[in-house]
Amino acid sequence: MVKPPLFPKVEGKTSRQAHTNLPEGTIELERGRKGFFGRVSHLYKTNAPTAWTDIKGDLKPRSFNFDKIKTKDLSDKNEIYTTLMYNSECRVSISRRTSEMPYYFRNSDGDETIFIHEGRGMMESDYGNFEYEEGDYIVIPRGTSYRLIPYNESNFYLFIEATDSVFEFPERGMLGPNAQIDPAMIETPKIPEVISRENEEWEIKIKRWNKLTSVFYPHNPVQDTIGWQGTNIPMKFSINDFKAVSSEKYHLPPSVHTTLTAPSFVICSFVPRPLEDISVLRIPFYHSNIEFDEVIFYHDGEFFSRHGLDKASITYHPGGIEHGPQPEAFEKVQKNSNIKRTNEKAVMIDSRKPLLFTDEALVSENNDYWRSWKEIAKPHI
Ligand SMILES: [Fe+2]
Repeated sequence: MVKPPLFPKVEGKTSRQAHTNLPEGTIELERGRKGFFGRVSHLYKTNAPTAWTDIKGDLKPRSFNFDKIKTKDLSDKNEIYTTLMYNSECRVSISRRTSEMPYYFRNSDGDETIFIHEGRGMMESDYGNFEYEEGDYIVIPRGTSYRLIPYNESNFYLFIEATDSVFEFPERGMLGPNAQIDPAMIETPKIPEVISRENEEWEIKIKRWNKLTSVFYPHNPVQDTIGWQGTNIPMKFSINDFKAVSSEKYHLPPSVHTTLTAPSFVICSFVPRPLEDISVLRIPFYHSNIEFDEVIFYHDGEFFSRHGLDKASITYHPGGIEHGPQPEAFEKVQKNSNIKRTNEKAVMIDSRKPLLFTDEALVSENNDYWRSWKEIAKPHI
């Protein structure tokens, strides 16, 4: 069998280096494998791949405004969260709370990363407690019993559940062990000195196969921990402590923002950072990560490659159809040397397995999102 070449081959008019000095009147389309890690080819085209006139079928860029969804847990105390997207190894849900969970919750289906989109409060667990605030990631191993206690304000949580295995930090390679998230910034729970409400009856709701079982105790079954040790523990760090990697002269792929990994998906953090020089590509190149569905949850700031998205909106770009910057972003950012930074904060989920939406998510969909590329953008770099 003849193996495909592992060295780059060139045909026709191309730039010498990816993302810079594109042939006159062309756009660059990146076709990459393994989520920006694997083999890659760049096609130089005279039309943007998003300049479609119509799409018939399900494979469309989609956007949703999760802020419009009234979560079940506000009205029904038995609901933990409202699931909006899912596949066999990843579930994405939201929850809003204005008062403390009157029970403990234990997820036996998956490990959880909870992103605090809005609010402050405390997580109480059988490893102890920590306070949280807007922008925090709380990572909770399956089997942990915990509850969330909002302080005097509404809390809005994004739950990302990994049902296959644990969340890990990515290898930082030559960036070194302190890059991006310094381990010193990771907090673990502290056991409180005083046990409150020790002799009250308490309920633990245990989720297994997406069904809840309630187990009752005549005492507090969480606050009776007097110590713990090991590595399978809840932890917390802030998106504000995530340090972006960037280059003035080269547009780095979104994989440099990888924050946590699960076996079939990654969580990335887009955070404020300097933009590239206008002589090189500073907005995302058109690309098709064929093997991945891409979801971006907009937390704060102005997302420079998208236009007209509110906080708590998401965009969904399924693998198999190309995506890239919207025309407005190209005009506003690529050509404007006065814009030197982006202040965006967003959480991206790149999933190897296709994600499906629940009926609860569909009510918040912007059905015209896929039409928003109608004006052809040609970034001549
Ligand atoms: Fe993308």
